[in-house]
Amino acid sequence: MTGEGDRVGADTVDRAHRPVLLHEAVRWLGCAPGKRIADVTVGLGGHAEAIMAACAPDGVLVGLDRDDEALAAARARLDPARARLHRADARDLPEVLAREHLPNVDGVLFDLGVSSLQIDTPERGFSFQVDGPLDMRMDRRQETTAARLLNECSEDELTEMFRVYGEERWAARIAKAVVRARSARPLTRTRELVDVIRAAIPAPARASHPHPATRTFQALRIAVNRELDDLAPALEAALSCLARGGRLVVIAFHSLEDRIVKRTMRGWEGACTCPPGLPICRCGRRQIARVLTPRPVTPSPAEVAENPRARSAKMRVAKRVADAA
Ligand SMILES: C[S@@+](CC[C@H](N)C(=O)[O-])C[C@H]1O[C@@H](n2cnc3c(N)ncnc32)[C@H](O)[C@@H]1O
Repeated sequence: MTGEGDRVGADTVDRAHRPVLLHEAVRWLGCAPGKRIADVTVGLGGHAEAIMAACAPDGVLVGLDRDDEALAAARARLDPARARLHRADARDLPEVLAREHLPNVDGVLFDLGVSSLQIDTPERGFSFQVDGPLDMRMDRRQETTAARLLNECSEDELTEMFRVYGEERWAARIAKAVVRARSARPLTRTRELVDVIRAAIPAPARASHPHPATRTFQALRIAVNRELDDLAPALEAALSCLARGGRLVVIAFHSLEDRIVKRTMRGWEGACTCPPGLPICRCGRRQIARVLTPRPVTPSPAEVAENPRARSAKMRVAKRVADAA
């Protein structure tokens, strides 16, 4: 799986799905017989399948995904007797557990980013390698598509989007070129956008690696799916669903995402912020979770060699130690 709208490169031809940090995720989740684990980005069910095997014979997996195609693939793969699958956003885990009459779970997994299925299906519009509609929605019930953002946002908004979400050096040039191109007719295809990007950037950058459209596509995908805005609330929702001692495992694929994971988990450690010497604590902060990975877990060189999509993965783990105040 990959987190970034490309970092796809030549491996787009490989449609096989290889879950990243699979054994590490299963181990850090504390999978064991009878455990109840939620995989809130169940995707094609690769991690979920290994989790279910490790929690056999009586463990339960609650799987969520906002993409109906991914969910159909997971449904075909996972044993319905122990997998409870829902088309839902990760933020809605508390409501999903209530529907399943589960008070809490022992572990929650987030494997962020897009799935191979999404990237490798041209009609989904995630890839700059093949032509397709400018769509990029994970949840195809939502109205905002990449085309809509490209054709309706102001030049300043596009510049900001490409700069912040894509960390794109040529953000302003690309935004200007998009606005010029759409004044002739709306942009509708990924190939058109790739051509606009290529023409907008200086000639030496056109031959650069990664592909010159990588960052703009990443930015659009993040904006369309509100990936960063929704991440902290989804992590909070996951923490609220964990039993004491339960583990939250998050695999992120780019630094913007990883920074949010790291900050949110640190916040749960709740170190007192009162000035030293105050006789009693006034800030009221206390520890709800403990971070078990002071440094992120990363894939081995062997995994990266076998699956280049794993190369930017970072996994962080927190363990719930108390109820919220
Ligand atoms: C990297 S893939 C997961 C792959 C999965 N671990 C596997 O082994 O097959 C990420 C999946 O998460 C889904 N997703 C991303 N953000 C989500 C969110 N906020 N709520 C629910 N699903 C989400 C995507 O639709 C995609 O199918």
